[in-house]
Parts: sequence; C-alpha cells; structure tokens
Amino acid sequence: MYFGADYHPEHWVWPYAGTPEEPESRWERDAQLMVAAGVNVVRMGEFCWGLYEREEGKYDFDWMRRVMDIMKAHGIQVVLGTPTAAPPLWLARKHPEILPVDENGLILHEGTRHAYSMNSDVYWEYSRKIVTALARALGQHPALIAWQIDNGIGGHGTEFSFNEESRHDWHAWLKAKYETIENLNNCLGTRFWSQLVSDWSEVPMPMRAPTVHNPALLLDWMRFASDTCVSYVRMQADLLHELTPHVPVTTNLRALSRHYDHFDMAEVLDFVSLDSYATLKNQPAENAVEFDIMRSLKRTGIRTPDGEGGFWVIEQKAGNVNWQEVNSLLRPGVVRLFTYQLVSRGATGVLYFFWRSPRIGSEKFYGGVLTHDGRGDNRVYREICQIGEEMKLLAPVLKGTRVVAETAILYSHPNTWALQFPMQPNRHFKQREHVMLFYRALHDRNLAVDFVRPPTTDEDSEALARYKILFAPSLHLLAGGEADRLKLYVQNGGTLVATCNTGLVDEHNIAPDTGYPHDLIDLFGLEVQEFDPIPPDAENHVVFKGTFPASHLYSARLWCDIIEPHECEVLATFSQDFYAGRPAMTINSYGLGRAIYLGTVFPPAFYLDLVAWLRQLCNLHPLLKVPETVEVSLREKDDLRLYFLLNHQATPVRINFLKPMHDYLTGNVFSGSYDLPPHGVLVLDEKVAKPA
Ligand code: GLA
Repeated sequence: MYFGADYHPEHWVWPYAGTPEEPESRWERDAQLMVAAGVNVVRMGEFCWGLYEREEGKYDFDWMRRVMDIMKAHGIQVVLGTPTAAPPLWLARKHPEILPVDENGLILHEGTRHAYSMNSDVYWEYSRKIVTALARALGQHPALIAWQIDNGIGGHGTEFSFNEESRHDWHAWLKAKYETIENLNNCLGTRFWSQLVSDWSEVPMPMRAPTVHNPALLLDWMRFASDTCVSYVRMQADLLHELTPHVPVTTNLRALSRHYDHFDMAEVLDFVSLDSYATLKNQPAENAVEFDIMRSLKRTGIRTPDGEGGFWVIEQKAGNVNWQEVNSLLRPGVVRLFTYQLVSRGATGVLYFFWRSPRIGSEKFYGGVLTHDGRGDNRVYREICQIGEEMKLLAPVLKGTRVVAETAILYSHPNTWALQFPMQPNRHFKQREHVMLFYRALHDRNLAVDFVRPPTTDEDSEALARYKILFAPSLHLLAGGEADRLKLYVQNGGTLVATCNTGLVDEHNIAPDTGYPHDLIDLFGLEVQEFDPIPPDAENHVVFKGTFPASHLYSARLWCDIIEPHECEVLATFSQDFYAGRPAMTINSYGLGRAIYLGTVFPPAFYLDLVAWLRQLCNLHPLLKVPETVEVSLREKDDLRLYFLLNHQATPVRINFLKPMHDYLTGNVFSGSYDLPPHGVLVLDEKVAKPA
C-alpha cells in the first residue's frame, strides 16, 4: 500500500524556507515529518520545466536529485512528473505557435499552465527533449518508482485547440477514417444545410459559428480531440518505456469530466491514477462513483510499482480547495473517512494534495497536510499521522485483495458527447443524473458496480459475461456491432436493463430508419414509436401491474416513450395523456436471459425498488445488513472477505452484528450492537481470532 503526498520541494527553498546559507535545508525536515506520518511515497516535479531548463538546452536536474537522495535516505519513494504541463516562458516567446487557440479564434497566452496545443509539432519536439533529458538524468535514481505523464491532461479546457496545425491534423484524421470525400459526405450527412465538401481542406473545425455545427461532424471532432490527447500521452509513455523500461507510467485523470476517452487513455498507461476532489460532495455516492469508474478503466495489464492491482489516487485533497465561492474546511475525521472510501473501492496508493500549503502562487490558500507555518502540529497533519499508522497496519491484509462486482453500468464517451450537444429532445434530461439514479440505488444498497464500455470485441463479450446484470441508462448512441453483442449477453443468460433514449442514433450520430431502439427491437420485444419529452415541472404517472413490487406510487418525468409492445410482458403503464395505458416498463425473455425496458425516468425511490427486485431475480449476494446511512464495501482474496463500514454522517450510527466480526483497526471483536462514531470507520472480517 502506497501512502504519501504531493510534494513541491521547489516551493521550499530560500527565501520561502531554509536559510541564505542553507537554502535547501527545509527538505530534510519535510522528509522527517513525512516519515513520522507514515509517508512512503511522494510525487514531485510536475510543474518544474522552467526550473530544470531556465535557458534553452541548459539543464539542471541536480537539485531534484538532491531531493530524491533525501527521500531515499528516509525510505520514501518517488513518482516524478514529466513537467510538460507548465512549459517555460522562453518557449512560448520563441515559438508562439505552440499556444492554443480557442473556438473563438483567440490565443490563450502564456504565463500560467497548460498553454500549449497538443497538435503542435514544435511542442511535441520540445516535450520529447525535456522528457528524454529528465529520464536520462533521473530515470535510474533508486528512489524512482513511477512516472506521472504531464499533469491533468486537457485541464482548463485545453483538450481542444483550433490552431492551423490542429486543422491540418483534423483533416489527416478524417482522411484516415473515411478514405474518400464521398464517404465522408455520406457518413456525416453533409447534405444538410449545404455542408457538402469537395476537398479535405474544406472540412471545418467546429469553431464559433452563427448556430450549431453538424452533430456528426461534432462527434468526430470530439473523437479527434480525444485521440490527440491520448497520442500525446502515448508519445511520452513510449519514450519513457524505451528509456526506463523498469519504471511504470501513469497520469492523473479526473473521473469523466475531461473531454477525452478515459478508457482509451487507460490503455496507454501502466496503471490509472485519479485526482479526487472528495472535499465537496456530501452524498457519498457522488464520490464513490468516481472511484468505481477509475477502478473500471483498466482491468488487464495493470503494472503498478508494487505489482498490486487497482488504481492510485495521486491527488486526494487534504483540506479545503481554493476554487469554490466558500472554501470551507474539511471537518475532523473526514479526510480519514475519504481515505477509507478510496481504499475500500480498490485504491492501492493514496497521496494527499499537497504536502504543505504554499506561500507563493495562486494556490496559497489551498489546504495542505501542513499549514503555511510548516511546524507539523496542525490538525490535518495529526489526522494524516493517524491514517498513516493505520495503513501500515492494514497493508499486509490488503495485499492482493480486490473489489469484485456482479453488476455493471454501460458507459461510453461518444454516447456522452452526443448527448451533450445542443438541440436534444429535452435539455433538462441529463445523462449523468440518469446514470446516477441507477448508481445511487446500487451504492445505497451496498452492491459493487463496475463501469464498462459497450462491447465491440470477443474479449469484451467474455468480460461482460461475468456480470449478472448490466444497466444501460440512456444508451442513445449505439454503434454497429454493439447491439449484437448485447443480444449475445442476454442470450447467454444475462439481464440487461435499458431505458428511454436508447438506440436513437448510430455511431455517426445519424437517426435510424428501422425504428427505436435501433437493432434492439427484438431483444426488448417492443418498438418505441415516438417519445414525448416533458418539462421539469410536469409529470405523467405510472401504474404497476403486480409482478413488479412497487413500494410507492411513482410519477414519470422528463421523457415518456410511446411503446408498441410485441413479445414483451408489460410491467407498468402510463396513466395519463394520449398514451395512457401504453407500456412504461416491460420485461422480455430472450434466450436464457431477460431484457428489461424502462420507458421513462422515475423518481429516485423507484430505483431502490428496482434494485431490490433484481437482487431476488438475479440472485445477487448482499453484503452485510447495516443501517442505510452506512456505506459498506468489500475487498476480497481467496477466503478473506474484508468489509469496510463507513459512517458518512456527523452523528453516530448503531450497527447490530448478527455474527461476531473482527476489526483490524482496533483488534476488537464486535457482536451485538455497536455505535459507529460520526465519520467512523471499521475494517472487518468474519475471523474472530485476531490474525497473527
Ligand atoms: C489539479 C491539479 C493540481 C491543483 C488542483 C487544484 O488536481 O493537478 O495541480 O491545481 O487541481 O484543484
């Protein structure tokens, strides 16, 4: 288990720390405080290009080597960032063409970070040079265990750039995909509004225009921009693999909020890392979903420094952030609670952002492990010390354990992008909220969930087969081949739950002429003939037929499909409007499995009923029986089942143990009732004797 902090030694030299005689003397003190907190890894250097290369070609990595030597001497290992997220000012002055151009055609100037276009050949060239120099200088250092490529790729909206070089790359990308102009015109439907092109060079970039761009073109632009981000990271990964084959590479992703395909990105990394902003959300499911997504991005070929699976949280905010309107402190015990939430969902490394609140720069009021004074007697530092102690205790038990899910949610970036474009049937229908209705219900019933892309290969189909239930909330875009593999999944005994807004377009964002949901009409045994988007302040109602155990009367919101049932069994109907009596929920047997269709959006409580019903129907294994406000998750290995119980409330919660359970943190055996304190944590197994 890696436990550590994001350290910025460049902030802590004279005149901000140290003395004129010994300008770097603070580093030693920091290492001592780290050891006392149980830190065994630091990430450093992600913004240091301007310090490594103050003048072009004149490198100075010695200061970083000195920091690494100190870390090594204290038994602390190092992840080094490649510093390309913050190019030096001289580079932008010399080559202003590297600066990104936004959709309005305006240059984003130098002076902060991320001021580069990933389509710039010059930037690629300079990136190669600095990464090579860094790897040659420090790649054999005995403290180095991993590289982090760049930092926050695509941050500050820089996934897209509208430079002339981007235009050139865009045309080359389209040419490779469509081969002929005629094919491009057909696949993108350019007859609409007279957008036919007769030469590759005519294809526009979707820059600011009087009105919306062609949705097929927009979707390809998103794919192109994603491929650009991924290939920039791949370029650095390839270089590092060549220069330091023994050192795995990662980069810090941000769960689904950046505009590139996170699954594609994970493929070029040896292991996945996440920046967690679990400072903001009060609903534990809002944090948990991000961790489950990150765990799901990479399943095979994971190469972490210690050979464990899972993912790392390379930035877990240690305190307050600095970019909300009011940046309140995290309450005592909450960083600890978040840390356990990460670990319980599969994290095998957790590093706090950052080690100490800097005295300089725009993040000076961001909460660090240490406060500005650096003394190490502050509240957060003490809490981190406690967690550090506990992690040492747990590390041997956690080794080799992993999260195993029996359910999965289908998720694809092209689908999300398509749903985010303007001119949707209902702009109040938000895919993320729709996904969260399912996720929250599964989470609140303590069922583990993975996220998977719709299947396109035999390997994908094999991986899907292990899930008892697949949820497909608003799978609006269904690409050729995906539908067939979903049918295969059900045919072989799986249960698929799909919803309104499924199969309305193909992979080119073009509507089908074969009815909705396209290519899945036989699977669900129904056809959606029309759909009726309804405003947020209106609703229809649903009447259940008896098979489905609804605990309440439920309304139908935002979207009502008008369904013509074929072979399916109708479980519920709408009760109002001209489609009163038409199906709102159906089930269809197909091969050995079943396909369930929800033709509307229900209130949150419905999804709890749905999960309870499916649990019976599909024989899902419940975890422990605990009160609703306690989050339970499981990491397992062979015959070890390690339960994490987390109280996300600021008040105690009573737990009744039906059988004795052993807590690794206190060594206690619990039976009968126990009051889990506010923000309290238990790490339990069923072995009653304390393990050696
Ligand atoms: C990201 C970056 C950090 C920092 C934080 C601020 O996580 O990687 O450098 O700027 O955002 O929230």
